[in-house]
Amino acid sequence: MVRVMQAALWSSVAFVLLLLTACERPQAVQGGYRGTSQIQLYQPSTLAANVALNTVPEPEPVDDPDPEAPKLDEVYKNVQVLTDLSVLDFSRLMQAMSTWVAPEQGCSYCHNTKNLASDEKYAKIVARHMLQMTRNINNTWKTHVGETGVTCYTCHRGQPVPSGDWFKNPGLPTQVASDFMGGKHGQNTPTMATVGNASLPYDPLSKFLDSKDSPTIRVQGEKALAGTNGTSVKLAENTYGLMIYISNSLGVNCTFCHQTRAMANWQQSSPQRVTAWHGIRMVRDLNTTYLAKVGPLLPEHRLSAEGDYPKVGCATCHKGANKPLYGSKMLPDYPELGVGAKAPYAGGATAFKDVEGLNPYKSPPPKPKPPATPGTS
Ligand code: HEC
Ligand code: HEC
Ligand code: HEC
Ligand code: HEC
Repeated sequence: MVRVMQAALWSSVAFVLLLLTACERPQAVQGGYRGTSQIQLYQPSTLAANVALNTVPEPEPVDDPDPEAPKLDEVYKNVQVLTDLSVLDFSRLMQAMSTWVAPEQGCSYCHNTKNLASDEKYAKIVARHMLQMTRNINNTWKTHVGETGVTCYTCHRGQPVPSGDWFKNPGLPTQVASDFMGGKHGQNTPTMATVGNASLPYDPLSKFLDSKDSPTIRVQGEKALAGTNGTSVKLAENTYGLMIYISNSLGVNCTFCHQTRAMANWQQSSPQRVTAWHGIRMVRDLNTTYLAKVGPLLPEHRLSAEGDYPKVGCATCHKGANKPLYGSKMLPDYPELGVGAKAPYAGGATAFKDVEGLNPYKSPPPKPKPPATPGTS
């Protein structure tokens, strides 16, 4: 009898073990300080499925420097941002930008290929702002991007319109929301992916990431008395909405940054929360300084139904990974994207209507030249 029971026990243990090996075991990574249970679980199959998205293209080959090579301003007529590059580095970067942003269309996405100096395509003017933005990120936001830095590829990944950009979300029209109650004040609509289909206010991005003047992200008031507190239930709900968005953008849960028994407490938070704090300030800067200028340069079909322009969020770079491109460093291969822009680009055209087709670059009246060499025009 005992034997039969033992055999039954062993076979059930074997069965359970078999079940366990058939299931995928998530990898547990300790994020916060030891003993704080700030553990992240990663599903190996999810990580593997995202490898292609997070693999960086081969760097463009580097030619040996040629001391005889002409200076940039001797060859090109309308370079306003990349003035500090050698002709070789300039051409190499143009190749790379084509691969990163418009691999199908190539140079012609930004250029009239018969006149590379012309600014007649809006994409070229936008790309100038983007070059300055990228240099600014790598220079002034090392608190967030470290030495890893970013290139155009971090956001674009071979697409002219990067995934993970966002617009103001006006929500559903009042009648659809509820005839009876009137407006829902931008909440209680559990179909909005930004906040994980929760009933929370569904546009925390406009509230918190749009501008340098966005309100502080708080649930707990810092002052006790009514009138001096400055927080509200709505602000708290918006905060939770934003936190869900941040977690989804990075593919992590709250414990990646917080000790959940004391969300607000910085001493008990992980170092990554500090990186995220700088990231929030960086995104506000990018949207205020660059995307607000790029918006009016875009054609109408790039804008939202309400005419709002696209903006950068955490997902624009991270795309579901705690470090974009799983932490691969592309910047060392393109150091020219890591230096400060020498010639600030104030931005020639400021609206789409002033770009397309209207201002093909007119070269200054030609100087008397020696007889033309074949292949130049
Ligand atoms: C994503 C947009 C983009 C793509 C794609 C692109 N370029 Fe450019 N190109 C620019 C911008 C922006 C400038 C101006 C840079 C500046 O003002 O500092 C420029 C300037 C140039 C110039 C200087 C022209 C002059 O006389 O002022 C040349 C040459 C050039 N590009 C060649 C190329 C070639 C060749 C390709 C394809 C391999 C290419 N570009 C792909 C955006 C692009
Ligand atoms: C932080 C993310 C980010 C980085 C880095 C970035 N971009 Fe962009 N880019 C955007 C966003 C967001 C838009 C607006 C997309 C839209 O039109 O919806 C955009 C738009 C553009 C467009 C206009 C595309 C179109 O068809 O309307 C061009 C061209 C472009 N970027 C080139 C570049 C180049 C070149 C670099 C690198 C020097 C670069 N970008 C770096 C986020 C980024
Ligand atoms: C990638 C890091 C990160 C993740 C993941 C994250 N948070 Fe946060 N959280 C922050 C940062 C940074 C702040 C402070 C923002 C600021 O001050 O600008 C914050 C603030 C908060 C606050 C406000 C605290 C106060 O001072 O009142 C709450 C509550 C909060 N988070 C909850 C959550 C919840 C719930 C989740 C999961 C759904 C989450 N967080 C996920 C980084 C993160
Ligand atoms: C311009 C691209 C870009 C944007 C936008 C961006 N990040 Fe990052 N982030 C990076 C890069 C690059 C790194 C890797 C830095 C490194 O290797 O040291 C990083 C790292 C982090 C880390 C540290 C991860 C770790 O494992 O240590 C956190 C947390 C983070 N980002 C949060 C955010 C949040 C929250 C937002 C939105 C408010 C955001 N990021 C927006 C580029 C970006």
